[in-house]
Amino acid sequence: VFDIRQLYKKMNLFTYDPGYKSTASCESKITYIDGDEGILLYRGYPIEQLAEKSNFLEVCYLIFYGELPTQEQYEEFVYVIKHHSMVHEGFRDFINGFRRDAHPMAIMVGMVGAMSAFYHDSTDITNPSHQEISAHRLLAKIPTIAAMSYKYTIGQPFIYPRNDLGYAENFLHMMYAVPAEPYHIDPLYAKALDLILILHADHEQNASASTVRLAGSSGANPFAAASAGIGCLWGAAHGGANEAVIRMLEKIGSANHIPEFIARAKDKDDSFRLMGFGHRVYKHYDPRAKIIRKMAIDIINKTSGNDPLLNIAMKLEEIALTDEYFIEKKLYPNVDFYSGIIYKALGIPTSMFTVIFVMGRMIGWIAQWREMIQDPERVIGRPRQNYIGHASRDFVPIDERK
Ligand code: ACO
Repeated sequence: VFDIRQLYKKMNLFTYDPGYKSTASCESKITYIDGDEGILLYRGYPIEQLAEKSNFLEVCYLIFYGELPTQEQYEEFVYVIKHHSMVHEGFRDFINGFRRDAHPMAIMVGMVGAMSAFYHDSTDITNPSHQEISAHRLLAKIPTIAAMSYKYTIGQPFIYPRNDLGYAENFLHMMYAVPAEPYHIDPLYAKALDLILILHADHEQNASASTVRLAGSSGANPFAAASAGIGCLWGAAHGGANEAVIRMLEKIGSANHIPEFIARAKDKDDSFRLMGFGHRVYKHYDPRAKIIRKMAIDIINKTSGNDPLLNIAMKLEEIALTDEYFIEKKLYPNVDFYSGIIYKALGIPTSMFTVIFVMGRMIGWIAQWREMIQDPERVIGRPRQNYIGHASRDFVPIDERK
């Protein structure tokens, strides 16, 4: 096999590819995307089938171990995840150091990074059982940490996880229960959240997964690498878009104002973009957005019956998809366009939207991290640069500078 890297090395050549638009950074067996056809497969299974027939923890098993579990493997996995859902009591003191008005994503970056300090007995990255235990810990504790990050900002006591509840149910319980008051978990809400987690579970080499791989490539432990991924996901061009979509829809306010915002999105002198539209890989309708759109309509029909933001979103999509600019650039709604509407219907505050994305994506990051660590060809990720600064010049003493 001809290895172009050896030739480049010999000739001291490299490619200039800002944003890595044409550069594959790794080989992977986890997720396949065909952006032109709108196909998404986890370990070969179509997202539509997993969304309809599976559940989040089964999908986590599939993504992490590579195959669907047998009944026995599934039960054991669920048991292990449930029994790792508590966090070290020291986290209570740790979280108390944050300001109450901190964004929950800021708290998430800190808390997940701090897992390296609380669980350093599983940070030997060369040890396969440490790799597995730290993966279980991250997956199991992330809903607990996520709910804590919310409870802290609203000044309510933390609610402990319950082992009799499912993964999504437990998160809703820890978010909304208050001590000494029974909290009824609506099965429709739990099902909707579980489905959303499945749809967010992995998406191959996006910015945050690449960040996790790059951070981990130096030998950093998985908690530190996952924390780097959370920081990356937070940005409005990535996971933060779900929050930005809701702010945009609220700003649009009514269907009459849509043309004005469409015109702004097309104006190259205006930095405004239609949030929740466009994707680096999909040049077709994002298959996740299709499923989420249908779910948003179902949820609204079963709850309020009418949601002004959903109405604006659907009208906006209709207008954008018939507009020359969006057609030519192949800009379609992405996974973030309708997810915020569902979160709002479930009573989830806007500041928690990207936190829920973290909960879904954690398994993808962990699987990507482990695949990278176990790759016999692993090298530290170290992009080159095209230097455009000054040529070498002599130092000028301060009293001679103009
Ligand atoms: N609104 C208006 N124009 C857009 C949009 C948009 N949402 N997205 C892309 N374009 C235009 C660009 O201006 C560019 O135009 P040009 O060819 O005239 O320069 C062209 O479409 C291609 O866009 P790029 O920015 O080169 O595409 P890229 O792959 O770099 O970016 C991205 C993809 C970041 C998702 C972009 O579409 C965007 O900013 N969308 C809005 C934010 C968003 O929804 N992010 C969530 C993505 S999904 C996720 O992370 C889970």
